[in-house]
Amino acid sequence: MIDTIKQNPHFPNKNLYATLTSSSLSRRSCIDETSVQRAQNLLAEMTLQEKLGQLNQVNSSVNHVSHDLAGQIQAGMVGSVINENKADIIAQMQSIAVNESRLGIPLLIGRDVIHGFSTIFPLPIAMASSFDPSVAELAARISSIEAAQIGINWTFSPMIDISRDARWGRIAESFGEDPVLCSAMTVSMVRGYQTDSLSNENAIAACAKHFVGYGASEAGRDYNTTNLSDHDLRNVYMPPFKAASDSGVASIMTSFSDVNGVPVSGNKWLLTEVLRDQWQFDGVVVSDWESVSQLIVHGLAEDMYHAAYLGLSSGVDIEMVSATFIEHGQALVNSEHIAETQINEAVLRVLSLKFALGLFDKDVTQVPVVEDISSDALDASYQVATKSCVLLKNENKALPLNLDATKHLALIGCLAEDEYEMLGTWIFDGDPGKAITIKEALEVECEARNLSFTFERVFQNSRDHSQAHFEHATRLVENACHAIVVVGEESILSGEAHCRADISLPGAQLALIERLAPTNTKITLVVMAGRPVILTDVVDKVEAILYAWHPGAMGGKAITDLLLGTINPSAKLPVSFLRHVGQTPLYYGIKNTGRPVSEHTHVFMDDFPDRAPQTSLGMSSSHIDQHFTPLFPFGYGLSYSDITYSNLQMSHTNFNQQDKLEARVTLTNNSEVNAIEIVQLYIHDPVASLTRPVKELKQFKRLEVLAGESKELCFELSLPDFAFYRDDGEHIVEEGEFTIFVGASSATENSVSIRLSLV
Ligand code: NOJ
Repeated sequence: MIDTIKQNPHFPNKNLYATLTSSSLSRRSCIDETSVQRAQNLLAEMTLQEKLGQLNQVNSSVNHVSHDLAGQIQAGMVGSVINENKADIIAQMQSIAVNESRLGIPLLIGRDVIHGFSTIFPLPIAMASSFDPSVAELAARISSIEAAQIGINWTFSPMIDISRDARWGRIAESFGEDPVLCSAMTVSMVRGYQTDSLSNENAIAACAKHFVGYGASEAGRDYNTTNLSDHDLRNVYMPPFKAASDSGVASIMTSFSDVNGVPVSGNKWLLTEVLRDQWQFDGVVVSDWESVSQLIVHGLAEDMYHAAYLGLSSGVDIEMVSATFIEHGQALVNSEHIAETQINEAVLRVLSLKFALGLFDKDVTQVPVVEDISSDALDASYQVATKSCVLLKNENKALPLNLDATKHLALIGCLAEDEYEMLGTWIFDGDPGKAITIKEALEVECEARNLSFTFERVFQNSRDHSQAHFEHATRLVENACHAIVVVGEESILSGEAHCRADISLPGAQLALIERLAPTNTKITLVVMAGRPVILTDVVDKVEAILYAWHPGAMGGKAITDLLLGTINPSAKLPVSFLRHVGQTPLYYGIKNTGRPVSEHTHVFMDDFPDRAPQTSLGMSSSHIDQHFTPLFPFGYGLSYSDITYSNLQMSHTNFNQQDKLEARVTLTNNSEVNAIEIVQLYIHDPVASLTRPVKELKQFKRLEVLAGESKELCFELSLPDFAFYRDDGEHIVEEGEFTIFVGASSATENSVSIRLSLV
């Protein structure tokens, strides 16, 4: 694990630091030797034009194979197709490729299968709330079974951009703000798609996207420029991609954005030096949609020829949709601006993937029999949804709802009865007809108990400003013992290119809550949204809040079972919930700064005396019009149990690199309800040669603690848990003090200190 140990020039008192060997040395590849050999043999027979064809991905002409597309496939000018979802059209395309082109090379058929294919699972940000990587694997496995049966062999998922700006619509597709949580979800999701061998039936190639830093788009505005230090790239944005590469992901997609002035599809440092040379990534690099030709719009390339040159020479293998490689590749080689050997390397990777997927060994030309969504798939979606909804507030044990003791229940809000809006963004092939709404699921429970149940949708959609139905809704709530008010964002308010500057509840939803709050009826708010919306103005107006994200096809049933307590909520937040959009970006792993804020130093501007002298108040890193913490921190989430943590102990307080370091903690369930608790271990490195975050999540576990039970949990730590990346890419550990925190969220102060020495 340790490569070298040296004296640390940063410390005058002769502290040591160790360079860790790169995990890339033991990276697993999804491409076997035989596939590479077969690809090499085939490559030797190809013309330059046929090679360029393999690097060309075209958009499908939808519903039929156009004469033009058929001709291009016949001529070997197309290596892959995006956006075809009809089994018969896919088979027809494959038949042209296999039977009518000179070399009979089958096509890669790519599709955005993001959180389910026919069966829609909760959004990725919701799945991350489970802190259970096995849910990502399960969702991906079922998605690939459903997608593969129609002939799709490549998904553009997982999306693993660290997202610390809730204005950015694509936060919905992400695993949130933390690199360790995101990496764990990534590795599992890739395994779910690819299984342990791409040649397995129903395995499809995964694609980790968007390399890299896309989540840092300025102002949370999609496609926007990013300015990221090497320090943040290496320690925050790259780790999930490194994890994906090390775990053998078949492909990586470039980001649309420019990073420090160089758009990624023309960024040789990122695509060649980092990905290929440092990480040894041997899979395929695909551009994002037209992002090679967009190098012109960015202002990096002067024309298509130049764009092709930059894309190919930087390390893009497959060009998605724009056609600069196929149109200018020949001229680039003729003029010796690009060596044919470089084209060969890219083609070899594409062909190796096709062989590894078994495309040459199975009959891809037959129209398959497509089976409908299975009940197992829906059940899996339900299971995942129950693990993904986060209970944010539960005052006076307002939940779980005791329907047997309730006489009259009111359900309010348009999102409660909309199948489509359960599903969220990126559901190209999802079937809303299979979705169960909250209204449907709750009605079943009420009918079973002969309980009166009233409903008012109030709004046309979540953006509606009309208050025309407020009065009726208020009357229903007044007459009920408990009201479930469903608010949030429709699916179209998040996702690609759907960013918001104001991330509070849209339309008149806040006004509705303000109108209902003065009734004497207990209100539970269910929020369905693609991002963490601002809840500051509503949190004190309701008794309970369940944050359901967009929970997928079975979301209505999962939410109902969580509200009724048939299932105890366990999910925790994968992203901080802000008090005000102006706090953006605010995440748990901030740096201390030289003047960290605390309760003692923070002064609200409302408390300023008149004419207060410039330096008399605060002088610490904060906003004077907001509290400095988020409304709900990363890792936070409630259950119906009462769990306490005690007795945090380390096996060593002086930890030597050879020691096995263990952190043990006892959890006690003081309630009568069995719980699954997500236990989180954070570290803090108080003095290092680069400033370190105030907390870094290193490990997490889901632990079942039965009612009344006390249970000990053990985390095993090793050197990489204490390491960070220097700007040159070295992964290092420095001697010294560390604080270990174990608790229920990133706000925990339950900690012990240890000292790490390297000799
Ligand atoms: C653009 C998106 O950025 C990317 O995530 C997606 O995979 C491609 N379009 C293909 O649809």
